[in-house]
Amino acid sequence: MTTKKIFRTEALIIGLGICLLFGSCKTNSHFQVVTRERIVLDDGWRLFKYSSAQLADNLIYDVRPEVKEHDDAKDADSRPTGAVVTEAGQPVLRPWILPTANDFIKDPMQKHQRPDGNPGSDFPFVQANFDDSVWEKVKLPHDWAINGPFQTGWDSEVGGGMGRLPVNGVAWYRKKLDIPASDAGRSIFLDIDGAMSYAIVWLNGKLVGGWPYGYASWRLDLTPYVQPGGVNQLAIRLDNPNYSARWYPGGGIYRHVWLTKTHPVHIAQNGTYITTREVSAHSANVDMEVTVDNHFTESVNVDVVARIFALDNNGIRQNEVVADFPKQECKAKAGERSVLKATVKITNPKLWGPPPTQHPNLYMAVTTVEMDGRVIDSYETRFGIRSLEFNPDKGILVNGEKIALKGVNNHHDLGALGAAFNKSAARRQLEILREMGCNAIRMAHNPPDPGLLELTDRMGFLVVDEIFDSWEQKKTPHDFHLIFPDWSEADTRAFIRRDRNCPSVIIWSFGNEVGEQYLDKAGAEVARRLYDFVKEEDSTRPTITAMNYAKPDMELPKMADMIGLNYQGEGIRQDPIFDGIERIRTPPQYDAFHTRFPDKVILSLETASALSSRGIYHFPVTSSLSSPARDGMGGDSKSCQISAYELYAVDFGSSVDKVFAALDRHPFVAGEFVWNGFDYIGEPTPYYEARSSYTGIVDLAGFKKDRYYLYQAHWRPDLPMVHILPHWNWPGRVGEITPVHLFTSGDEAELFLNGQSLGRKKKGEYEYRLRWDNVIYEPGELKAIAYKEGKVWAEERVKTTGSAVALNMVSDRTEMVADGKELAFVTVAVADNEGLTVPLSNNRIKFSIEGPGEIVATDNGDATNMESFASHSRSAFNGLVLVIVRAKAGVTGVIKLKAESDGLKDIQVEIVAKREFGFGH
Ligand code: GAL
Repeated sequence: MTTKKIFRTEALIIGLGICLLFGSCKTNSHFQVVTRERIVLDDGWRLFKYSSAQLADNLIYDVRPEVKEHDDAKDADSRPTGAVVTEAGQPVLRPWILPTANDFIKDPMQKHQRPDGNPGSDFPFVQANFDDSVWEKVKLPHDWAINGPFQTGWDSEVGGGMGRLPVNGVAWYRKKLDIPASDAGRSIFLDIDGAMSYAIVWLNGKLVGGWPYGYASWRLDLTPYVQPGGVNQLAIRLDNPNYSARWYPGGGIYRHVWLTKTHPVHIAQNGTYITTREVSAHSANVDMEVTVDNHFTESVNVDVVARIFALDNNGIRQNEVVADFPKQECKAKAGERSVLKATVKITNPKLWGPPPTQHPNLYMAVTTVEMDGRVIDSYETRFGIRSLEFNPDKGILVNGEKIALKGVNNHHDLGALGAAFNKSAARRQLEILREMGCNAIRMAHNPPDPGLLELTDRMGFLVVDEIFDSWEQKKTPHDFHLIFPDWSEADTRAFIRRDRNCPSVIIWSFGNEVGEQYLDKAGAEVARRLYDFVKEEDSTRPTITAMNYAKPDMELPKMADMIGLNYQGEGIRQDPIFDGIERIRTPPQYDAFHTRFPDKVILSLETASALSSRGIYHFPVTSSLSSPARDGMGGDSKSCQISAYELYAVDFGSSVDKVFAALDRHPFVAGEFVWNGFDYIGEPTPYYEARSSYTGIVDLAGFKKDRYYLYQAHWRPDLPMVHILPHWNWPGRVGEITPVHLFTSGDEAELFLNGQSLGRKKKGEYEYRLRWDNVIYEPGELKAIAYKEGKVWAEERVKTTGSAVALNMVSDRTEMVADGKELAFVTVAVADNEGLTVPLSNNRIKFSIEGPGEIVATDNGDATNMESFASHSRSAFNGLVLVIVRAKAGVTGVIKLKAESDGLKDIQVEIVAKREFGFGH
């Protein structure tokens, strides 16, 4: 028998120090932040976007290969290809931008020297006296493409793959910064959480630097360029290429931007790193590494002191000091970086762990730098204490408890809000997922907004944090491969340093279905480099890459600590329909990988890619457990809608039922991440005429598809529930076979049609739904009574509704904070005279608002809907419309949202906009 190595890590972690983000401003503590300021720069921006990239200025980062041919609609698992070599036939700014990466390049010989000169300094947009008053006023986070218009048809510039929205192009953001004279002598930094993409920054006409990867969070040192005692002109140029992604990337400065001001001797960017060892309910050792930067011209001696406080459930720092790190002296040499290490033992720590069996307790370390007894910097680090164990036979243990990962993948867009990050929208997604029983998120396929990780830390989700969808090999002509050679080290190190204190992050993924899977040793070499970067920045968590092609005997699986499989566990294209085709076809792989890698934990990073449109049912219904979608087989290429019997999947995917069976048969697999949680903009496989995906468990508007209940039934076995599908309004099907399927957390159920029993059925082993495939349709009522261990467990009814006569309207909150950020999500349903939602209704609904609120967006979850998300009217899609409302900043009062539709009784909801500080944004 092989001796199995158990990968064990006891890490804890944290976050970005940040009072503004984490609510510590309202701390009761007397331990005050004194000298560091972190100012959010969301307001007061002006934007200009060129009408076409061809008309743009030539201040380009680099030339890009010309796109001669591009198949937007090719399968996601098509083999990636090699880079195209391009010669820069014109001056480019790349050499001036590369030095921004220097802090993240280990080998001093590889660091970049800034060339002489100051490109762009004579360009009008970077000048302080340039008149930008006619430019559009915008607030961050801002996505320049989300309001459309959608580009329709096969010849559109931006195709279905990238969401048919005008993401591509070149644009400038300008903002005036008022820097008081008292800031003279301080260090001043610009911190950008994310800008899409190829950002280049000028301050007061001087080129400062930039960062190409749109998902990275990065910092520029503005100090040499700042003029204290007046207005300073910031100008940021973005250049977002078409063909850069397989999904909607969004465009613009879509995350927050901050101005950080510190003493010249200060804690570095993401300059604390906290890990834990020997974690138990009785004690834990907390190790902390602090990096101090001395930007002074002379060397100084400082003391570094750190204290740990508990955070309460609202993220508020408690008064009591839980532990003190020993004071350390630091001889900070002029212009250099010093690293200090300290350890403290905490007794009876409150551990961080995922609900419902554990609680996500958090701590905050407050680290101060003192000079001559005076505090000159203070930095907050959110972290948690938990142990992780990765056991190849048992899976993942958090604080000693086995936690099967019931995860989903999510892209970064927030539906109708686009890529612009909004914490209350992200929290809504997590709450909907939690109600389903989901306990884990894979950040597909790029670093998320830091605010999302704050939420996963606070809510106790387990996270696979991921950085790349491509390495040197490309999936689309302008994806990350173009900058991989220059930026992969800096991007990887910066990513880990930013997120390594978050307790929710348990695994680092450094690639998704990369082309290097096909390249044997050469591909493995690329992986080894990335692996080393990750491990050098954080050795407490295992690494993974998502493999949809690499087999156990190939090179890539050797290159990460864990085995990450996409679709291979269930097998790929095993259906006879695929006989003879030249695509990936793979028999089920769990056992083969387990045998070949007995020391490695296997995790399914992508499962399912099941397809459905909420509320749409096509007939006949396949009798099989899982089927590809084709016309007459769950699909309909005319309407571009797919049947929600939830038995259909992309060609390389599998139905939910098939995935569950494969996982239950292989209990050594640590769990799964479903592709995917929420529908996203772009990648509308298999109908690229559409705008958004069909693979979500929840639609783009946040409405649950039937599949949601299949997951809930399996992932929350203790929640009494039974769900019936389809709806029961089939006037054209009287007398025809109309299958009825039930999803229940019980083990048995009886189905009744108009009071007549259609029989009682029991789930067999590896069965997850109950199906009555021969029901003859007649209008009336379907009733399901579910049983568990012989006792009545849950009941559900679905009735044939009357015609539409009214509207229902429900807001997910009755009060909100008047901060211009928090959002209310209002669901409007077309109803019959009993208040039942009328399934196929598509009535046109108009919205109006009174009081201190505004309608931000509307949506109905229909992947084919090409109306701007900004529209204040929309047709229902299968009975439902979503309205997203924001309270105006600083104005309190009652917001009244009204919905009207011809022939239907109108309706109104009220939401109170309040002054109190909230936590959701
Ligand atoms: C996978 C890929 C995902 C997504 C999915 C769609 O192969 O990793 O990013 O494209 O397919 O089904």
